[in-house]
Amino acid sequence: MPPLLEDIESQWEESHLQIAGFKTVDFTAERGFVLSFWGGSNMNNKLAEMRSRLIVALDVSDRNDALKLVEQLSPEVGAFKVGMQLYNSTGPAIVKDIQDAGGNVFIDLKFHDIPNTVGQAARVMSRKGAFMYTVHAGGGSKMLQAAADSAAEEAKYFAAPRPLSLAVTVLTSLSQEELSQELAINRSVAEHVVALAKMAKASGIDGVVCSPQELDMVRAACGDDFLIVTPGVRPRWAAVNDQKRIMTPKEAIARGASYIVVGRPILKAESPVEAARKIVTEMAE
Ligand code: C5P
Repeated sequence: MPPLLEDIESQWEESHLQIAGFKTVDFTAERGFVLSFWGGSNMNNKLAEMRSRLIVALDVSDRNDALKLVEQLSPEVGAFKVGMQLYNSTGPAIVKDIQDAGGNVFIDLKFHDIPNTVGQAARVMSRKGAFMYTVHAGGGSKMLQAAADSAAEEAKYFAAPRPLSLAVTVLTSLSQEELSQELAINRSVAEHVVALAKMAKASGIDGVVCSPQELDMVRAACGDDFLIVTPGVRPRWAAVNDQKRIMTPKEAIARGASYIVVGRPILKAESPVEAARKIVTEMAE
């Protein structure tokens, strides 16, 4: 007998809330995940949990390069982030290509438009079977609500797991000066991030993308059942590149990150597989 829509929905919901609350990690069967391994007493379970929380940023332009990485890395990591570079250079079909190669896809296109348009785009994310996708929190609560509701509705209609809706708070490239002088926002970056995260949560969004520096504040303000996805993560052995305010994978997890996004330390490594394994081991320490 096929599962009830409500069961699929609640199973998916529960699995991710649990990741955020660090209670247990589980993954839905629909996406090839395995159900519940509790708590961390067993090192293999802990490694599997951390693996699921590592997202690789596929910042390449070529389809074959991307798929080669997915082939190598899908047993090692939880998902692959497809951003504007790869999506725009290869086209939307890259999402299915990655899924067919065994990867979960985080579609990071940062939607920001009127609620109806963003809602329709969120429906597409559901139909494409995205694991996560992003919208800009700056679009306001109606836009955020349209995204979250539409993604959920569409998934329910197709009896598929719904994608996680994530809001981007303040781009880490924006300085305090730009925020106040160019955007006329008269509060600190940190206060603004927390305010946007709270608005996103109240609008039904599952979590935010923010800098590791904001982890403590967002976790405190939004609670354990809210996802925090953070880039700007660098193992000590990797080059810093252009990231400014970095944190190690272990620190980011300890401070409340639900998922970490890592690009160049894995993509540019001599062996991406070894680099991913090393990061997972550090996360689990
Ligand atoms: O190579 P690296 O680990 O720095 O890649 C980080 C990824 O996270 C990139 O895809 C980058 O665009 C993204 N990102 C970021 N900082 C943000 C938002 C997204 O580094 N504030």
